[in-house]
Amino acid sequence: MSSIVPKISEVKDLTRIERIGAHSHIRGLGLDDSFEPREVSQGMVGQVNARKAAGLILQMIKEGKIAGRAVLIGGEPGTGKTAIAMGIAQSLGSNTPFTAIAASEIFSLEMSKTEALTQAFRKSIGVKIKEETEIIQGEVVEIQIDRPATGSGVKVGKLTLKTTSMDAIYDLGSKMIDSLTKEKVQNGDIIKIDKGTGKITKLGRSISRVRDNDITGSKVNFIECPSGEIQQRKPEVHTVSLHEIDVINSRAQGFFALFAGDIGEIKAEVREQINHKVAEWKEEGKAEIVPGVLFIDEVHMLDIECFSFLNRALEDEMAPILIMATNRGNTTIRGTDYKAPHGIPLDLLDRLLIISTTPYTEKDIQKILKIRCEEEDVDIKEDALALLTKIGVETSLRYSIHLITSASLVCVKRKGTEVSVEDIKKVYDLFVDVKRSVKYLKDYQDEFLHNTPITNA
Ligand SMILES: Nc1ncnc2c1ncn2[C@@H]1O[C@H](COP(=O)(O)OP(=O)(O)O)[C@@H](O)[C@H]1O
Ligand SMILES: [Mg+2]
Repeated sequence: MSSIVPKISEVKDLTRIERIGAHSHIRGLGLDDSFEPREVSQGMVGQVNARKAAGLILQMIKEGKIAGRAVLIGGEPGTGKTAIAMGIAQSLGSNTPFTAIAASEIFSLEMSKTEALTQAFRKSIGVKIKEETEIIQGEVVEIQIDRPATGSGVKVGKLTLKTTSMDAIYDLGSKMIDSLTKEKVQNGDIIKIDKGTGKITKLGRSISRVRDNDITGSKVNFIECPSGEIQQRKPEVHTVSLHEIDVINSRAQGFFALFAGDIGEIKAEVREQINHKVAEWKEEGKAEIVPGVLFIDEVHMLDIECFSFLNRALEDEMAPILIMATNRGNTTIRGTDYKAPHGIPLDLLDRLLIISTTPYTEKDIQKILKIRCEEEDVDIKEDALALLTKIGVETSLRYSIHLITSASLVCVKRKGTEVSVEDIKKVYDLFVDVKRSVKYLKDYQDEFLHNTPITNA
């Protein structure tokens, strides 16, 4: 199992980077100890009621009281729905799996909708595995490598380690020799070797070598030579997602599929076996299930089949917490002729806790823009920020956030150090917002080729 310890986070990366980039300033929900939102905190501004509700959800998640239910964040575009979901993710910490997808991604992958959803669900369920690993730990006394006289063939060698109480010599195979070389291990280093995986970790340098400081540079971590046995058993805990276990065990794909990105579909039998195995581990006290969070943005893009899948999946005893977001009110459920609130079927709606976000005031918009400027390392003049805020109020928050990046490029190009009103004006003219774009298209409709009326000739 330990071969899967290296942190393998997401298979599909591109959309992810983009989406998170826009929310990189969000570090949590900005709540105080009694879960009350602070006006500005952890990158979060205003939207107090929604954040308070999200805080309650967070508490429920932490106490494991929300299984089988789901949360819907509803509100107009640019009111911080995604930001709040990210805030929840940040507050959960890195040991709780969090997966974010946009509903439309489900339709664009080279696999069926339900397979894509299943993968998303299983990425959001963590398995905390407890293992006893055997490790070798000590100070390197000597590394001796015997190179074959012919120059080719298998390298062999010996490694001498010591603690304050003993020393021991180990035979080295060529793989270990390569790892030692790669880690640049030298005499006097204190190292840890995982016997199962052969992974070598440099813990630091022996204090007795402190005088070599000049040679090794100043960033060296000097530590005491360890005491006790060189060979030890240590309990180790790591969390992997069910999906990671699926991929590794689905023989057709193999381990490398994780890095290739294209993982295709995983057989139902594989998943069944894994569920079985995990249940066994759980029984034996070797593993613990950690329900994570699955965030589905723009959820009105899902169709009726996906919704019934969600309904069923939430019933599962290993279900993650599902958080969805939408900016639609009453609309048609995709794949049907029926209308429903948020385009979500009633049986699913019934399970939801709904949080709504409201449009920002001018003051809030200014604060968010200021935080974004800081996040992007952009210095901006007071009047330029005021103009940007005005643009934000009249067009959209997201549009004005986008202008920060482009305005700062214009500023750099003229060798300025602070974004000025002029810079903003320039990019405002270059990049139109939606309202202007639509108006432009309407005004010139007749001149566009694709709008030539079809006549019955
Ligand atoms: N309350 C807030 N505090 C700080 N930043 C926010 C807040 N609300 C929204 N933002 C930022 O404004 C931008 C648009 O918000 P977003 O969450 O994408 O809106 P929505 O998902 O509702 O359309 C994002 O960059 C987001 O991080
Ligand atoms: Mg959004």
